[in-house]
Amino acid sequence: MESRIADKKIDFNISIDPPSLELTADPGLVEQVLINLLLNALQAVENLSNPQINMTGSMDDRGRILIQVMDNGPGILEEVQEKIFIPFFTTKKEGSGIGLSLSRQIMRLHRGSINVQSKPGETVFSLRF
Ligand SMILES: Nc1ncnc2c1ncn2[C@@H]1O[C@H](COP(=O)(O)OP(=O)(O)OP(=O)(O)O)[C@@H](O)[C@H]1O
Ligand SMILES: [Mg+2]
Repeated sequence: MESRIADKKIDFNISIDPPSLELTADPGLVEQVLINLLLNALQAVENLSNPQINMTGSMDDRGRILIQVMDNGPGILEEVQEKIFIPFFTTKKEGSGIGLSLSRQIMRLHRGSINVQSKPGETVFSLRF
């Protein structure tokens, strides 16, 4: 995804703390989740003059691996946030509404979770393993 992000002049940062952080998971499936989240983030910052996307890997306060994808796009209305993980729910003209429902399935297969926190200018998707 890095070249696609670079093409669009997006301020993109990845940080992993601690750097030794390791996740035992299905790499192909987790990659699918990260691609879905990054595609959504790319679409969310599309028309911004200062587009920003960040990815972080860390450990939460209960010792679980936490991966977060953040963008500074318009955000998701609270009443919409409840629906975004439902299969085929989309607000996009050419969207299929598959990305997040598939991501939630994949997280369930890992006995993990996916959550969103969003307000205008800051949307954060959190994966916990
Ligand atoms: N980062 C985000 N910022 C704003 N809205 C988002 C973001 N991520 C998801 N959404 C909202 O959640 C909806 C569902 O996302 P999902 O990825 O499942 O489907 P989609 O992106 O519409 O279509 P697809 O991923 O199948 O191409 C989106 O249509 C959009 O309304
Ligand atoms: Mg999507």
